Amino acid sequence: MKFIPIRLKVIKPSEKRGFDIYTMEDTKPILLLGKNSPLDEDSPILEYNSNFIAFIPDNQLKEFKNFISNNVDDILNDPSMSQQNKMYAIYVSMINNLEELVNTRNLSLCSKVTKDVSRFIAHTINDTTAISILLSFIRNDAYNLALHMFNVGVYASMLTKKLHPELSNKKLEEIAKGYFLHDIGMLKIDKKILLKKGKYTEEEFKEIKKHPEYGVEILRRDLKIFSPIIEKIILEHHERKDGSGYPFGKTEINEFARICSMADIFDAITSKRDYKEELPKTTFEALKENKDFFIKEFGRDKYEAFIKCFYIPKK
Ligand SMILES: [Fe+2]
Ligand SMILES: [Fe+2]
Repeated sequence: MKFIPIRLKVIKPSEKRGFDIYTMEDTKPILLLGKNSPLDEDSPILEYNSNFIAFIPDNQLKEFKNFISNNVDDILNDPSMSQQNKMYAIYVSMINNLEELVNTRNLSLCSKVTKDVSRFIAHTINDTTAISILLSFIRNDAYNLALHMFNVGVYASMLTKKLHPELSNKKLEEIAKGYFLHDIGMLKIDKKILLKKGKYTEEEFKEIKKHPEYGVEILRRDLKIFSPIIEKIILEHHERKDGSGYPFGKTEINEFARICSMADIFDAITSKRDYKEELPKTTFEALKENKDFFIKEFGRDKYEAFIKCFYIPKK
């Protein structure tokens, strides 16, 4: 059995859990609390410090993620909870809801994702420490559509905050929803194409290129979200300044679609993809090695602001 590390402190007393909690002694798993045992107020496991890492069996990971998604508001509103654990809860909840949306293609789950975006804006985006904690959870050793939508959502929101500090939280929240849902149109693409390993054929790529238009269709028809700014982000995030992009080959592109596009390209460079042989680039390598491209395509202002997003403040 494989074990997955979790942050123990996000599990509060007297709550039902669908997962067992283990600790590791050397490499040997020791059961701390079985899933059928209640977590009492006086349980010794509550004495562990706030950063204690426990383990759960990987076949119970879904139950753990659902548990966090269901309890995320309690965790965020608990004054005794550390900021690390709060950001971890936001991260786990959002990845869980995005994965469920992508895997089931049940569009009603978008409302859970947009709720997570509201929490992210309320608890993270205005706090540089919170944002650097959240960034530390991002993994680039795996790639799937849900992780990609999450990463792009975080990067693009950070960049928007840096470039447009005048935006109200309400406006930023609306724009961020566009970022986290930017590839929602991919859910209309045949799974065989979407999950294909290796390069696309010309026909397949033609279909993939329709995802911005499919996305707007989903937004209006299925989600009943009518937001010109979100539509622009979804529709124009693959357009390029020189007109070589898709779906329209536009040269005048919306500012927030540009920001989304930059985050999208950055995530593609820094994530492991099946069709790429080389290892994913680190943040530093990706920004340094692609400096000329980023400046030419997006301008020096956006490039420099993007670098600043990864500056970690000293405590
Ligand atoms: Fe896209
Ligand atoms: Fe994308």
